[in-house]
Amino acid sequence: MNTLVIGSGAREHAIVWSLSRGPDYCSGKPPRERLFVAPGNAGTHELATNLPLDPGNPAAIVAACRELGIELVIVGPETSLAAGLVDALGAAGIPAFGPPASAARLESSKAFARSFSDRARIPSAQTRNFSSARELRRFLDELGGRRIVLKKSGLAAGKGVFESDDPAELFSFGRAVLESDELLAEEYLVGSELSVFALCDGSDHLLLPACADHKKAGAGDSGPNTGGMGAFCPVPTSDPALMARIEREIIEPSFVAMEREGLRYRGVLFFGVMVTAQGPKLLEYNVRFGDPETQSLLPLLDSSLMELCHGVARGRLCSLRPSFSKDLAIGVVVAAPGYPGSYPKDIPVEIDEFGAQGMIFHASTYRDAMGRIRTGGGRSFTAVGMAGNWKDASDSAYALAKAIRFEGAWFRPDIGEKLLNRLNPGVGSGTQ
Ligand code: AMP
Ligand code: GLY
Repeated sequence: MNTLVIGSGAREHAIVWSLSRGPDYCSGKPPRERLFVAPGNAGTHELATNLPLDPGNPAAIVAACRELGIELVIVGPETSLAAGLVDALGAAGIPAFGPPASAARLESSKAFARSFSDRARIPSAQTRNFSSARELRRFLDELGGRRIVLKKSGLAAGKGVFESDDPAELFSFGRAVLESDELLAEEYLVGSELSVFALCDGSDHLLLPACADHKKAGAGDSGPNTGGMGAFCPVPTSDPALMARIEREIIEPSFVAMEREGLRYRGVLFFGVMVTAQGPKLLEYNVRFGDPETQSLLPLLDSSLMELCHGVARGRLCSLRPSFSKDLAIGVVVAAPGYPGSYPKDIPVEIDEFGAQGMIFHASTYRDAMGRIRTGGGRSFTAVGMAGNWKDASDSAYALAKAIRFEGAWFRPDIGEKLLNRLNPGVGSGTQ
């Protein structure tokens, strides 16, 4: 089947890699003639045909789909979904994995998502919306040093969230957001975070193994929020009883409310969940696969990703039972100097993978005229280790992360470490 994946991140490299291993691309014409990525990166170039298209330009993508006879489009980034790509594909009769813009608002407007989840009576943090700095000032004056979380309502690549107990810091962040967007203030929730993915074909849904992300830039969850500095899958604490409770209290009510409110959805809905002492609470919805979670999740998928995406896009999910390896996966993001602040691009990269077990997924990299790989983004690579136990998976992931060399490259040294310490007190994961 001719397939187009939209995006250029490590998530999209992992999707292309997983598709290219499936039965659809293991025989017949070479995958490069049937598997396309727009715009892709230096990693996807090894597996598929990169198309120099703007993922935010639905008309250009529809035209390319017609020309290439594309039968399925899998949309990675939320920006393309919010820009109405799936609506444009639908109007052209091209099946897509991803929601239309009306449902993508569950991610592109946190204000909409929170009022939706409140209408659906889903447990979440107490929230207040602000549209002026004066209201915010009055609220902060009455806060009395309580820790809260401020959020920009619109898309912000994981960087529109700020938590603090300092009213001056909070005001300065909030005022800057209010210059261009709505602002939400949330009760600060304490607990452990889970990323839960539900595939949805418009009527049925299917849960994938839970993942854990590491949102903060620094070791020990210090420093600013990022898009995610590493993840692991599956999560040992996400036992069947917890997952059943999350499904009953968060996931099912979300799908029931979507149906009631006419939000048609064929794709993956990502539930950011905080497991608190009072039970699981919804932090946010995302309307696509997580990054970096996908890079740890898909290497564990034993069955065909193509079959799953096809089932979602054509409303035939109920007959599918995906199988997953018993292995465990840890993904470590290797970032450019300065990320999540401003960072240089076009830095030459050397990769010495010799002997290391696992995968390296590229994000926004490209090859220069000399054939040398160069960086193009902030979170430049995800190094993924897989093994039958956490220690070996972590050692492989860190061996690969260290094999990626460019000036100023850095990674969090403690991805999965809390988990490892809980399983084997006294044993740390690989560090720099
Ligand atoms: P969001 O984009 O809403 O998921 O927020 C990004 C990250 O900020 C989450 O993954 C959490 O780590 C953290 N966060 C968001 N909301 C809260 C909250 N109410 N309490 C504690 N942490 C939060
Ligand atoms: N890893 C969280 C996200 O994809 O937004």
